[in-house]
Amino acid sequence: MAEPARAVIDARELVKSFQGNVAVGGMSLRLGEGEMVGLIGPNGAGKTTLFNLIAGSLKPTSGEIWIGGREVSQESPERRIGRGVGRTFQIPKPFLEMTVLENVLVGAQARDGERLFANFLRFGHVRQQERLAIEKARALLEFVTLSGLEGQPAKVLSGGQRKLLELARILMADPQAILLDEPAAGVNPALLETIMERVLDLNTQGKSILLIEHNMDMVSRLCTRVVAMALGKPLAEGTPADVASNPDVIEAYLGAAA
Ligand SMILES: Nc1ncnc2c1ncn2[C@@H]1O[C@H](COP(=O)(O)OP(=O)(O)O)[C@@H](O)[C@H]1O
Ligand SMILES: [Mg+2]
Repeated sequence: MAEPARAVIDARELVKSFQGNVAVGGMSLRLGEGEMVGLIGPNGAGKTTLFNLIAGSLKPTSGEIWIGGREVSQESPERRIGRGVGRTFQIPKPFLEMTVLENVLVGAQARDGERLFANFLRFGHVRQQERLAIEKARALLEFVTLSGLEGQPAKVLSGGQRKLLELARILMADPQAILLDEPAAGVNPALLETIMERVLDLNTQGKSILLIEHNMDMVSRLCTRVVAMALGKPLAEGTPADVASNPDVIEAYLGAAA
């Protein structure tokens, strides 16, 4: 397989332990410009912890994270959003009483990385920025097929619609790299198709995507390269078909199920 283009994300020998329990135990992973890579592994393998380390909500016990050729291991999650990393959560947690549109606006970032709506109305120019942000949020809601619901409270959304809402929210910050944590989990088949199409569109637009997903049909359709991990370590890497038929990968899933 060809070397990926310049790495947007380069995780090097990451280790994360929680009170001596090793969740990630020496994991390296590169996401090249424009690549879409699948990350699979049984529950408890450390996939979400790896995302937390890359996005900055956890600091590594050891190892380094590089984004766009710069070491960011000690930077805050907000700084990393500013550097172009957007991530969704395995279980979306929208602000339930806020409208769908307001939830998307939460993802807006001012140019200095401050949250745009934190200092709302403090300066005249914020109003102009605010207007532009609303236009952008509406365009993103259209992209994720939620336009008709913009004035509804987020609590009315189904699980799949909440995943689409989250996608719109992170797109407000124009991420270059997108980390998706189980976007298909608990989603009905019709919405699943929409989610897959949108993820593919984003990749076609040039965004690099790292996709955690148990749905191997989705992984096979979207990803050219798959990394499998188990017990915090890399287990196999290759095409979706190669990784899915790898005996170590099959054994890891069977072991986790037992
Ligand atoms: N904040 C935390 N505190 C303690 N243990 C954690 C924490 N987050 C994850 N873990 C543990 O790390 C391991 C990997 O979890 P996780 O990264 O969620 O796996 P995956 O996403 O692959 O299912 C699990 O054993 C989990 O219990
Ligand atoms: Mg997880």
